[in-house]
Amino acid sequence: MSENDQLLRLWARETVDKYHETVQQDPYRLHYHLMPPVGLLNDPNGLIQFKGVYHVFYQWNPFETAHGAKFWGHYTSTDLLQWREEPIALAPSEWYDKNGCYSGSAVEWEGRMYLFYTGNVKQADGTRETYQCLAVSEDGIQFEKVGPILNHPEGYTAHFRDPKVWRQGDCWFMVLGAQTTEEQGAVALFRSKDLFEWEEAGRIAGSGLNGLGDFGYMWECPDLIHLNGQDILLVSPQGLEARGYEFQNLFQSGYFAGKFDGERLIYEHGPFTELDRGFDLYAPQTFIDEKGRTILFGWMGMTDEAEQHQPTLASHWVHALTMPRELHFENGQLSQRPMDEMKRLRKNKVQTELAIGDEELSFPQIAGKSTELIVELLELQGSSFTITFRNNAELRYDAERSEVTLERKSVRTGETESRTCIVPSLSKIHAFLDHSSLEIFLNGGKEVFTARYFPEPMDEDITFSGEAVVRLEKWDLRGFVVDR
Ligand code: FRU
Repeated sequence: MSENDQLLRLWARETVDKYHETVQQDPYRLHYHLMPPVGLLNDPNGLIQFKGVYHVFYQWNPFETAHGAKFWGHYTSTDLLQWREEPIALAPSEWYDKNGCYSGSAVEWEGRMYLFYTGNVKQADGTRETYQCLAVSEDGIQFEKVGPILNHPEGYTAHFRDPKVWRQGDCWFMVLGAQTTEEQGAVALFRSKDLFEWEEAGRIAGSGLNGLGDFGYMWECPDLIHLNGQDILLVSPQGLEARGYEFQNLFQSGYFAGKFDGERLIYEHGPFTELDRGFDLYAPQTFIDEKGRTILFGWMGMTDEAEQHQPTLASHWVHALTMPRELHFENGQLSQRPMDEMKRLRKNKVQTELAIGDEELSFPQIAGKSTELIVELLELQGSSFTITFRNNAELRYDAERSEVTLERKSVRTGETESRTCIVPSLSKIHAFLDHSSLEIFLNGGKEVFTARYFPEPMDEDITFSGEAVVRLEKWDLRGFVVDR
């Protein structure tokens, strides 16, 4: 490890220690979500189950609640509930990654863990360079940097990053998020026999390909996965114009379903579908665990104009990861469901079946800020049904229009902002509330709303209105245990 690397690690540790108590005492601290020990977290990286242990790495600026030269922070777990804060995996210490060890992925091969990431370099004259880099580990904790492993191909700007690697047949493949020299978003494919030498294998998706028109100026964090007979490309395009209820956030995350031909190096796919209908999901990544489950973590945040208004900045941290979700592909559609493991956080079950009227109704026993709530709509007599979360956010089903809307108070303006999606027939609302987050799964995860929200810390009210007969189930949720 270079001297510079050691210094950066030391400073980062000092910053963590300095603000540890401040972060712990923040009423908006999340209890069952991975968040940075201090500073800014963004994308999940290097997700893998390695020798039985789950590894979650993440983009991390320990020094500021702003973007900058990113480190790879690192958590491990054997059950997705009890976590350990591990030593920093990668620090931006070398000439090829000095302005950030940007996003990437992990694979296991012959007992070693291989991390692929993007070295971000900004020269004094403002020009940018990117290097796709490799780091190798025997134990999954200490990493040795190998350095850049592929040549920047022609036809792309320096916005070329986020390698996601997988094995298919006897070949390794890598997809990269890219911008073409015509400033169009794209996914570039590479392949390798040995993980060290990579050859370019063409452009498999992007603006102007597969019947897509203009589809953004940059695509970030591609992830090509095989699920239930489909090859699904998850990707986060930048530069899409809002269209009706779609593409309302500054940047998008979504997927294409199709067929990847690893011989002909072609990917044919259908239309783009947004992964989330809320405000705060970006740069998700997936991995397959030893039980064969495809698990997704996303960044529960966004680099938008609200980022620097998040109330947690005062406590020296910002953003978190979503809870882990299991992915399924059914009836031509991706669904996301809470992992079974989450059930082990439940305590104090309350269950009731009742008729709700037009008046807002609340129940002392159905309240909370670290809470799981399942609402089954058994009968809807009126045209709408509404749940209000801690007087700060509201989920409304308009049955006549077949629309579900999530509203929250903007951290920037204090005004109400909303996101809406079409749900033909809403039967089940499964909501997870953490101290400053909401993840709401509709109809078995066919649609999901993810949002940060910042209610008054003492407010625990959950209220219901709209003429309906409902079955309610509610639990208080214990937090993750995070050892240092
Ligand atoms: C996505 C992203 C990636 C990049 C990383 C830098 O949020 O912009 O494309 O690798 O964040 O932190």
